[in-house]
Amino acid sequence: MAEPILQVRNLVKHFPGNRPGETIHAVNGVSFDLIPGQTLGLVGESGSGKSTIGRCVVRLLRPTSGKIQFGAHDITTIGEGQMRPLRKEIQIVFQDPYSALNPRMRAGNLIGELVKLHSDLGPQARRERVAALAARVHLNADLLTRFPNELSGGQLQRVCIARALATNPKVIVLDEPTSSLDLSVRAGILELLGELQRETGVAMLFISHDLETVQLVSHRILVLYLGFVIEDGPANAVFAKPSHPYSQALLSADLPPDPDVVLDRQILQGEVPGPVNLPPGCAFAPRCPLARDECTGARPPLVGVGENHHAACVRIADGTNDIRAAQIAAAGDIHKKFQDQFVRRTT
Ligand SMILES: Nc1ncnc2c1ncn2[C@@H]1O[C@H](COP(=O)(O)OP(=O)(O)O)[C@@H](O)[C@H]1O
Ligand SMILES: [Mg+2]
Repeated sequence: MAEPILQVRNLVKHFPGNRPGETIHAVNGVSFDLIPGQTLGLVGESGSGKSTIGRCVVRLLRPTSGKIQFGAHDITTIGEGQMRPLRKEIQIVFQDPYSALNPRMRAGNLIGELVKLHSDLGPQARRERVAALAARVHLNADLLTRFPNELSGGQLQRVCIARALATNPKVIVLDEPTSSLDLSVRAGILELLGELQRETGVAMLFISHDLETVQLVSHRILVLYLGFVIEDGPANAVFAKPSHPYSQALLSADLPPDPDVVLDRQILQGEVPGPVNLPPGCAFAPRCPLARDECTGARPPLVGVGENHHAACVRIADGTNDIRAAQIAAAGDIHKKFQDQFVRRTT
């Protein structure tokens, strides 16, 4: 496998809370690698720290601690002067393309602005580069004279992707890039991203709360809960064999129901607890249907559950980490109780 282009190690990001002395633990020791030509999917419910991680990677935010190694540089510690030439290497695309763009600039100039910022091309060469970028993202050349409010959501996101590509980046962070778009437009954008990755070998960090989308685009997946990685692995393995009870619950909310056992979808109802007072043990323990005493003691480490596949649950050690199996067992118990009663009554 190719060498990672970007390595994140033990990333921690705290924000000051609303009350004096309060700390919001948004990201709590997250590590991952981005590989050229591959996409890492970052999933988790709203508030799990996905955007904060993305913003640290492009250094819109300074982490509280941890390392983000890009080539020879730890971009968490270098000064703004050293960071400037690296900014073009690590780009970001946001969820809402309209608010990411200056409404007073035409699409062509919005793309041209980025070309100009990071190259010394003359006006003619620049225009050609803008036209080439528009073609790359399948944006009709006629649209380049339009203002953002004259373009559709999908067209605007293509403008944003063209801007991100304008600097030939090695890494693109995509923070819910299709969440604000109509379903019919999403597939086109996802297809475009895959095509661009195959052409350029760019590494992508794809952030989404939508599992279906993440499964479509990701090579690897990282499942976040309250700023902790609770599972990571090859996309296929995580979807085929989710091993943390939280991943199982998250996936069950999306997958077609098993006709034999209906997994309890109640688990993920209600709010994620706020990251102000972190639970002392497993962050998911307060909502976990399988939690036992030791889950609220120490924080469980990630342990191997398959090839390059890890999950952080104490029940993995004795193989009792499967919600579905636990529910089948519980259903079996009820069935048995009912049978016993039935037998007693009829004899
Ligand atoms: N600038 C900020 N100031 C204070 N709290 C923040 C800030 N940005 C994010 N948070 C908090 O950090 C946590 C993680 O947020 P975020 O990274 O946006 O999650 P996600 O993208 O997964 O929804 C949330 O509790 C959020 O309220
Ligand atoms: Mg977010």
